Amino acid sequence: MTKIALIAGSPANGSRLFGLVQYATDRLALAGYDVDLVSAADLPAEDLLRADFGSPAIQQALASVEQADAVIIASPVFKASYSGALKTILDLVPQKGFQGKVILPLFIGGTIAHLLAVDYALKPVVSALGGTNILGGVFAVDGWITRTEHGGYDLSEQLAERLDASIAELIQELDHYAAASGRSRQEQAV
Ligand SMILES: Cc1cc2nc3c(=O)[nH]c(=O)nc-3n(C[C@H](O)[C@H](O)[C@H](O)COP(=O)(O)O)c2cc1C
Repeated sequence: MTKIALIAGSPANGSRLFGLVQYATDRLALAGYDVDLVSAADLPAEDLLRADFGSPAIQQALASVEQADAVIIASPVFKASYSGALKTILDLVPQKGFQGKVILPLFIGGTIAHLLAVDYALKPVVSALGGTNILGGVFAVDGWITRTEHGGYDLSEQLAERLDASIAELIQELDHYAAASGRSRQEQAV
């Protein structure tokens, strides 16, 4: 069975980053994939800061990443880079921990000005962890996402289209991987 982990690097649960996270998770569920969420906002902050490998919550998060065929890395842009909270998780991933996995970046920033943060900040780290198949992903401007009254998120049409295309590319990559390992589409999906 194909597994997907989604690392969410926002320290705040109400962040519009979760508009991207929710949309991607829903679309992948429609396509038959379960997504394991590893969220910096939910993990014990002290365990993250102290890189406590003995913490059961950290061990569970790392197991999700280890078992995943694809890892979606979602982060807000903070000070022209990915968030420090995301880095506390990436620091726990073992050497070559992304080897053989498809990586999909989903970023959100206040402006398009820091679009290249994915390239100059995230990609070298993913690469150091053995990730070679890094998809183009999506950079969203936070104004494209509106919080709804009921705690959900509305995405602009333009953003939804970009996410759809990006998720379609991820599924295509997973199909290639499965074909190479002799797994059928039915065996991949949940
Ligand atoms: C401390 C901090 C630093 C930020 N730095 C940047 C930045 O350098 N570039 C940028 O485009 N957005 C920056 N932002 C904006 C956030 O990326 C963006 O607003 C956020 O991811 C989504 O907003 P929300 O969490 O309020 O929903 C920053 C936000 C904060 C709180």
